[in-house]
Amino acid sequence: MDQPSPYSPGAITPRIAGRNQQRAAIDERLDYLKSFQRLIPQTRVDTGPSGTGKTSLLWHTQQRARRRGVATVWAQCGAAPLLPTIAGQLGQASDGQSTGRIRRVLNSIREHGAFKVKAGVPGVAGAEVEWSREGRPGVERGPASGAIPSIAQTEDLLSTATELARKQGHTGLVLLIDDIDQADAASVRNLFYAWENFQRERPDLPAGIFATGLPHTRAVLSQAAPIADRFAYSDLEPLSPDTVAVALARPAQDVGVLWDHDALRTASDLTRGHPHVLQVIGDETWKTAGYPGPGARITDHHVRAALPAVSRAMQARPDLQIQPPQHDVPAIARPGSLAERVAQAQRSGVPAAQLPRPVQHPTPGQRPDRGLER
Ligand SMILES: Nc1ncnc2c1ncn2[C@@H]1O[C@H](COP(=O)(O)OP(=O)(O)OP(=O)(O)O)[C@@H](O)[C@H]1O
Ligand SMILES: [Mg+2]
Repeated sequence: MDQPSPYSPGAITPRIAGRNQQRAAIDERLDYLKSFQRLIPQTRVDTGPSGTGKTSLLWHTQQRARRRGVATVWAQCGAAPLLPTIAGQLGQASDGQSTGRIRRVLNSIREHGAFKVKAGVPGVAGAEVEWSREGRPGVERGPASGAIPSIAQTEDLLSTATELARKQGHTGLVLLIDDIDQADAASVRNLFYAWENFQRERPDLPAGIFATGLPHTRAVLSQAAPIADRFAYSDLEPLSPDTVAVALARPAQDVGVLWDHDALRTASDLTRGHPHVLQVIGDETWKTAGYPGPGARITDHHVRAALPAVSRAMQARPDLQIQPPQHDVPAIARPGSLAERVAQAQRSGVPAAQLPRPVQHPTPGQRPDRGLER
């Protein structure tokens, strides 16, 4: 039976491999918001070059927030000014609400001529659905143009929206801002000055901001809003070879397909820890192996035969600025590595976690970046 590829090149991955430190830090902040019903004072910003998993991580943050009952708003930067986009989304979320409070705040902003809000879709479902519909990546929402709400208006808008979310039974409100380095400077300035005021005046507001951006985000944000200590930056480093091996083996294993040890090692070495390359190699290898069905194996031959297609796929993404994997990369034997244990587990049917662990000798800078979500 042919099976579709379980890999996700160019799409948000349903499984985040590694990124344990990031996920723990995100959880800690969300738990704080939920348990203490207080403002998350610092904005967490995950940065990394293209294709390193920023949008995927933010999407997972959204899922984790929702699991805690937190309402979320997703803002994709670049196409339209950030604050009007957030305001427009909040306006849509408040559509059909008996209170219409956000709408009143939006109207007052409009009366002062600050910006135009694109009308939401009236009468589409209740609050729960409206909130949960918010923020799907890639969905264009909010106003396309307009001036920027002032700091005071931004405070009014966000505090009203958070209170409304709470009234609707949510535990708080979180803004998820993707590619914040592409946001307009005026919005960044007003949003984060508003947030700074919240830190002094509204610590009781259960709200938070999570953002992502390219590595130059620090410089961009510190120029727009010179309040450096208000941001907590974290860099998305390459995934460790062991994490890559698990990320390749696990989706296949879930549909009954096993990667040979050699194949995993070669693919993992070729990937060099880059999440996008990982997905491309997994996907192209899957196709080269003929869309394997349950019980089939992926061999080293499949991986190597897929490399021309991998190169073509990589050339389609020059923005990644990484060399396509080379065909002659030697497969370095790493006895006792997780890759080997995963392969061994697949052969023996014993879960990898139950195999004896090799002695680990962490080297300086080695990342404890392991494991899959769920
Ligand atoms: N932790 C991860 N484990 C496995 N695959 C991942 C991981 N993170 C991202 N990916 C995969 O890597 C690719 C790039 O992910 P994503 O789009 O999230 O990166 P990005 O940093 O937002 O890229 P861009 O800068 O182009 O917006 C996708 O194919 C995604 O499925
Ligand atoms: Mg992205």
